[in-house]
Amino acid sequence: MRFAASDACKAIFGHPAAKAFSYEEALASIHEDDKERVLNAVKESIDSGRDYAIDHRTLWPDGSVHWTEIRARVVSGKSGHSERLVGVSSDITDRKRYEVRLRDLNDTLEERVAQRTAELSQAHETLLAEVAQRERAEEHLRHAQKMEAIGQLTGGVAHDFNNLLMAIMGNLDLLKKHLAENPKAERLLEGAMQGTRRGAALTQRLLAFARRQDLQVEPVDLEKLICGMTDLLERSVGSSIALRLNLTNGLPHALVDGNQVELALLNLAVNARDAMPHGGSLVVKLDLAQPVPEDCLASGSYLRISVTDTGHGMDGETLKKAIDPFFSTKELGKGTGLGLSMIHGLAVQLNGEFQLFSAPGQGTKAELWFPSTTQKIDDKGMDVTQTQPGVTARAKVLVVDDDALIAMSTVDMLEDLGHEVLEANSGAGALELLGAGDHIDLMITDYSMPGMNGAQLAKAALEINPALPILITTGYADLPSGAGIDLPRLGKPYTQDQLAFEIAKILKSSRRSEPG
Ligand SMILES: Nc1ncnc2c1ncn2[C@@H]1O[C@H](COP(=O)(O)OP(=O)(O)O)[C@@H](O)[C@H]1O
Ligand SMILES: [Mg+2]
Repeated sequence: MRFAASDACKAIFGHPAAKAFSYEEALASIHEDDKERVLNAVKESIDSGRDYAIDHRTLWPDGSVHWTEIRARVVSGKSGHSERLVGVSSDITDRKRYEVRLRDLNDTLEERVAQRTAELSQAHETLLAEVAQRERAEEHLRHAQKMEAIGQLTGGVAHDFNNLLMAIMGNLDLLKKHLAENPKAERLLEGAMQGTRRGAALTQRLLAFARRQDLQVEPVDLEKLICGMTDLLERSVGSSIALRLNLTNGLPHALVDGNQVELALLNLAVNARDAMPHGGSLVVKLDLAQPVPEDCLASGSYLRISVTDTGHGMDGETLKKAIDPFFSTKELGKGTGLGLSMIHGLAVQLNGEFQLFSAPGQGTKAELWFPSTTQKIDDKGMDVTQTQPGVTARAKVLVVDDDALIAMSTVDMLEDLGHEVLEANSGAGALELLGAGDHIDLMITDYSMPGMNGAQLAKAALEINPALPILITTGYADLPSGAGIDLPRLGKPYTQDQLAFEIAKILKSSRRSEPG
């Protein structure tokens, strides 16, 4: 075999033009890793007669690596056998370098694009989350403002309406005594009385929603409360619904009005029953929880009652409106639309919160949050004599009310009970009468009055006469808790019997506490 290389070819292999260049030398300068590939290609071309084309690395005598491209053609002899391989070689080191650089660039470009895309999508997600959070906060605020406005309106109307009911009820009560032996008139009167009682129940609910009901707030063991009403809950939901309690023991007490919390749970159970006409399950859970910042609750620990049903749930629109007063999806006569609004009002008035979670077909979870307390139940205050306190002797009673209509009906009731009555239409007027030195057995004062409210009047009156028995009548009583005013209260509207009962109770205990 003969091997001939041009000067250009020698240069490509890093070989000086002046010196001879053998096939062995050419072979030796092919990079080890490419050698087998080159030999195979040469053999392939000779055997098949096809063109020879290959790129491979060459190792120069100075140790540097270069790229060589060889293109050759097989030339056959007369016999048809391959005789010669004739071709050209060129140095493609630069081209290869560019290729590598380009590939690197391409690779890192993809990486860089991927990284940038990731950064952008991260930023996009953060932005979306911020927008969603802002929307939630705005929605929360809008809702709170709406509830506040409806609450103000409802509270005001309910308060005035309650006073009117008080006047109607008081007068009807007295009118009854003038209707001896007239069955028809008595029936009519009873109808009117029933109407006022229904009206009173309605205003009570409205006041609850408006966060203005008269609450008896004290530390309550909610676990005991829930256990105590299991029977009632079971009976209310019926046998097709399985009730399960999931209560945590040994939790701190909650600062609530136990009766109102029971009523709220009952309302939730009834709603759950209505949402599960074909049966299902109802879970009442009690645990301790910490609010998250979006909850709008003061920090601290809260007792959380959650009532979860497997009913039909609510769509977004219904869920949004569910706690609005008078919103109901139930047929006429089945729902008042006041259940959830009362519960919401109660929770907020107790410095807690009411939350609803629901989706169509996914059931509903209602959560009530109430602040916990380390206080224990105070038994001292439970000395309320429930037995008839007996007939009260004639007493001198000072009636204070800024509403003339109510004052009149209260005065009529008291006079009818045989008491002597003095009247004042403001706190200042009452203090004047008390200061005049006349002996007064009892002061009955309205709570909500312009200028000086009932609690302020009571405080001032006790400075004049520390032993003065006082009864506060409230329709709208948010007597600030812990204000040091712990006086007997009577909710408006009241009947003559209720008034007589309260007076007897107060006068009896004040006589008991008199020295000697
Ligand atoms: N557990 C519940 N599952 C599905 N929907 C409910 C549930 N509780 C309340 N709702 C919806 O909220 C509305 C208002 O409830 P509520 O204030 O208790 O009034 P009412 O029960 O008188 O309709 C209901 O009419 C009903 O559409
Ligand atoms: Mg209801």
